[in-house]
Amino acid sequence: MSIKDSLNKENIPSHVAIIMDGNGRWAQERGEHRVFGHTSGVESVREALKAATECGVDYLTLYAFSTENWSRPKEEVDALMNLLVETIANEIAELNENNVKFMTIGNIGSMPESVVKAITDGVKSTENNTGTKLILALNYSARWDVANAMKIITQKAIDGEIDPESIDQEFIKQYLSTADFPDPELLIRTSGEMRVSNFLLWEMAYTELLFTEKYWPDFRKEDFFQAVLEYQQRERRFGKVSEQVKAVNE
Ligand code: FPP
Repeated sequence: MSIKDSLNKENIPSHVAIIMDGNGRWAQERGEHRVFGHTSGVESVREALKAATECGVDYLTLYAFSTENWSRPKEEVDALMNLLVETIANEIAELNENNVKFMTIGNIGSMPESVVKAITDGVKSTENNTGTKLILALNYSARWDVANAMKIITQKAIDGEIDPESIDQEFIKQYLSTADFPDPELLIRTSGEMRVSNFLLWEMAYTELLFTEKYWPDFRKEDFFQAVLEYQQRERRFGKVSEQVKAVNE
């Protein structure tokens, strides 16, 4: 039986987030430039999206460019920006064919104009699709997102629109760039690194973390299904004890 067929259809995570890591090392180990790792990683993005769609994951969030990535060599940053523009433009038709809704989180307005345009076109062209939501985190960091939410909320308090006493977790969530998405049940990080690197810190309070040794360009559909299978074998307790969780599930 394939891994996909062995998944419990009743317990598919609704939101999977991925830190796509190891492109540079993958390329360097082959004597290639780091950028070759990024271009090769695009095929893995397709695979992850296909796998998510096939097994019924509603939201797939990919960490494609962090706020911190701007400090990489200019040549690599420029290549990543070009790759983003090209990939989004090339993939729109196929996203539409597969009813995928393309969305982003992050400080998009501060990205190069060509990237903003590609994103705006992609989002607009797929906005009525009702299938899997593909969310690219671009110029994103979780601390940036929280700081941004704080700015908006503080201004509302100063303007007398809200009472600071009414600020609770649900209220804060509304001002994060992930406001419209459920928290991810599963995070996958490739390349053997075991960090969350400023990704979805608020949203990952109860997320299951799964680390694989594979470099991102080697990631395939089977690896996605394997991660979901491992997720299904975990017991999610949300701070409760095991007996309480079992009682609820019985
Ligand atoms: C991390 O590997 C990867 C990135 C910073 C960029 C991810 C981008 C892609 C997979 C391609 C573009 C994606 C889309 C959706 C168009 P790394 O460079 O940190 O690798 P290293 O840790 O081995 O140096």
